Amino acid sequence: MDATETISTFTDFFVSRGHRLLAGRTLLPQPGDPVLFTSAGMHPLTPFLAGAPHPLGRRLTGVQRCLRTTDLEEVGDQSHLTVFQMLGSWSLGDYDGPQSLRWGMELICDHFGLNPELLHATVFDGNGPVGPDAEALQTWEDLGLPVELLKDNWWSNGPTGPCGPDSEIFAWTGDGPPSGRPSTDPRWVELWNHVTMRYLREPDGSLSPLPRPVVDTGMGLERLLMVAQQVGSVFETDLFAPWIAVLPGLWQPGERSLRILTDHLRSSVVVIADGVRPSSTGRGYVLRRLVRRSLTALWSGCDGPAGWGGGEDSLTLGDLPSDLIADTGERFGLAADPAVVRGVLLSEERKFAGLVRRGRSVLARLYPSGRLTEDDYEFLRDTHGLPRELVAELANPQRS
Ligand code: ALA
Repeated sequence: MDATETISTFTDFFVSRGHRLLAGRTLLPQPGDPVLFTSAGMHPLTPFLAGAPHPLGRRLTGVQRCLRTTDLEEVGDQSHLTVFQMLGSWSLGDYDGPQSLRWGMELICDHFGLNPELLHATVFDGNGPVGPDAEALQTWEDLGLPVELLKDNWWSNGPTGPCGPDSEIFAWTGDGPPSGRPSTDPRWVELWNHVTMRYLREPDGSLSPLPRPVVDTGMGLERLLMVAQQVGSVFETDLFAPWIAVLPGLWQPGERSLRILTDHLRSSVVVIADGVRPSSTGRGYVLRRLVRRSLTALWSGCDGPAGWGGGEDSLTLGDLPSDLIADTGERFGLAADPAVVRGVLLSEERKFAGLVRRGRSVLARLYPSGRLTEDDYEFLRDTHGLPRELVAELANPQRS
């Protein structure tokens, strides 16, 4: 099943069980919202999770583009991404958590073909004022899945707002039979999170009951594809095929650089198409970091004529093909104008190349040995505007 069929299988499953289909929304939350980017499928639904009636009813499903920067350093492994699509289902005071888990199991095993013997569940073990989620535990036992009880299976979208215990489904991605537990063995990959939101976290930190309990679920499309298509990383799924087909021919990146470039540039295309422009604060700074990290991977991790950029022969983001940019936008329901996207990327590239030139000359002058202390990094950042990751890379280049 390819990405398109996987999305429709997911949403059809819930629509045939009385859910209404939501249109995906922008990555940019409403003004006044404290988060920079939508980071979970539930985010545009926050007022409805907190009790407001939703115009489409009490059972909802949809696909939402999301952005998470918490995992930026992990990108390059098998499953972490910056921008991704989250498949979601919601019960706003309708069915309960166990029903959601049973449907979840039916969907991934009977429709996506996952082997139940390669699945593991985790369940909230109780923490502070809230006791263990006995209903979820019983449901998984009835369904025959091994369960790990964990105190930190608790989901919230921020310091205040709707929250509650969650139950996560993990899939085994190792060679050979499953071993260990999700909390101790990274070969168990988190697939689908089912949150039973029963509380509202108040600004003083206390919990008050929600007017009606809510079930909020989210599953990363890319991870589901990795597991269902039985490939070794999200980058080997059909969703990333256009990127993986093009970048090696353009830049000959090493494997880790290829993954970083694919994730960060694909994410940058989506963020730019959603209207963000690079800047030194907020959302614009997230975009700037993505582009600079891409350029670092490009100039330090590729076999090209030029190494660190700026010269005539440098590897350049301006070579990204128009088709790839437009196709990426389309997959996220966005019209990404290739000329606009390339213009933004090239303008950032020129600024970064200038910073690199300055960084090199400052390092050669002040630290010819290449050995730097934390104070030196701080000094270079505060006095010369040189970001830590750039200085570290220039002082100790790493091929990847
Ligand atoms: N909101 C939950 C999550 O993002 C489902 O994991």
